[in-house]
Amino acid sequence: YMVDKGNRRHFMEKEIHEQPEVISHTLAHYLDFTSDSSKPLDLPFDFAKLDRIAISACGTAYLSGLIGKYWFERLARLPVDIDIASEFRYREMPISKDSAAFFISQSGETADTLASLRYCRSAGVPIGAIVNVRESTIARESDVVLPTLAGPEIGVASTKAFTCQLSVLASLAVRAGVARGTISREQEKALVHQLSEAPRFATQVLKLEEQIEKLARDLSRYHHVLYLGRDTNFPLAMEGALKLKEISYIHAEGYAAGELKHGPIALIDENMPVIVIAPHDRIFEKTVSNMQEVAARGGKIILITDKKGAALASVKTMETIVLPDVPEIIAPLIYALPIQMLAYFTAVFMGTDVDQPRNLAKSVTVE
Ligand code: G6P
Repeated sequence: YMVDKGNRRHFMEKEIHEQPEVISHTLAHYLDFTSDSSKPLDLPFDFAKLDRIAISACGTAYLSGLIGKYWFERLARLPVDIDIASEFRYREMPISKDSAAFFISQSGETADTLASLRYCRSAGVPIGAIVNVRESTIARESDVVLPTLAGPEIGVASTKAFTCQLSVLASLAVRAGVARGTISREQEKALVHQLSEAPRFATQVLKLEEQIEKLARDLSRYHHVLYLGRDTNFPLAMEGALKLKEISYIHAEGYAAGELKHGPIALIDENMPVIVIAPHDRIFEKTVSNMQEVAARGGKIILITDKKGAALASVKTMETIVLPDVPEIIAPLIYALPIQMLAYFTAVFMGTDVDQPRNLAKSVTVE
């Protein structure tokens, strides 16, 4: 059916703003907010009996899977092998009989992801598909479809599909934790309640548009940008870099902050802004030392943090974007928004074709 931009300049802008609503729809599909519990799912396997899971995907969907790994391992004590689908399909990974495989795809048609699914099919393990298009090939060939309810995504750079994938993965990890007895009923209640707050926080963060647009004007003058983060903010750093490079054509890289001294620090000078994604969490202090290393070399820091983090960062920044203090489980969903908005406005200032960036396709059905 027809989808239009409404009163927005680009589909990407519209899709960014739809996130509170589509995250809410997606979470409500998996979680029951009246009892604050995860809904039972009709799965072709029992989470309690798995010894590991494999996740494979491409692009932004791969990065959501990488965040999912942190959640499954932390909440459900379930080891996760996460792969880029084009690697997975050829690397002949031995598949444990007591495992399940998940494939994440907005379109449900990505060739490498589909090939990975078929590899797991021939290994005989149960297959789950986290897809946005329910009538897709990947959905059809899986044993269970775990839909993201993002609605049609038109912009080539994925935004709302990403945060909906995160919504599904977080809900699933809670469900797995319940099934495996690694989280108590009290913890389940608390986590589900915290997840229910994601749409409200997302709405608040979207109001930072003006500040982010101004920052994007400055950012559009640079040729290279480095993104840093730890824990779930590491995949988010890669997602920030991916968004920026694909739509603004500015060279960007995302790194685990702890890897700074193993290479990228050689690149730091006043011409390469460093975007640090660092809510005030248990490893915040480690990221502060990384920022001090950057500052000591004349690097320009853009810090995306929360109120506590902003108060404790003790480092000079080019800009600090202060998000509300949010529970750890929803931080990846909330911190995704400023990095999407920053990429969006930077691309607008660069004058690129935001919804249809050069050389890219929305759905890559050839290898
Ligand atoms: C293309 C798109 C990306 C997307 C990736 C995976 O490269 O431009 O936005 O993340 O494919 O697509 P999928 O439909 O499998 O999520």
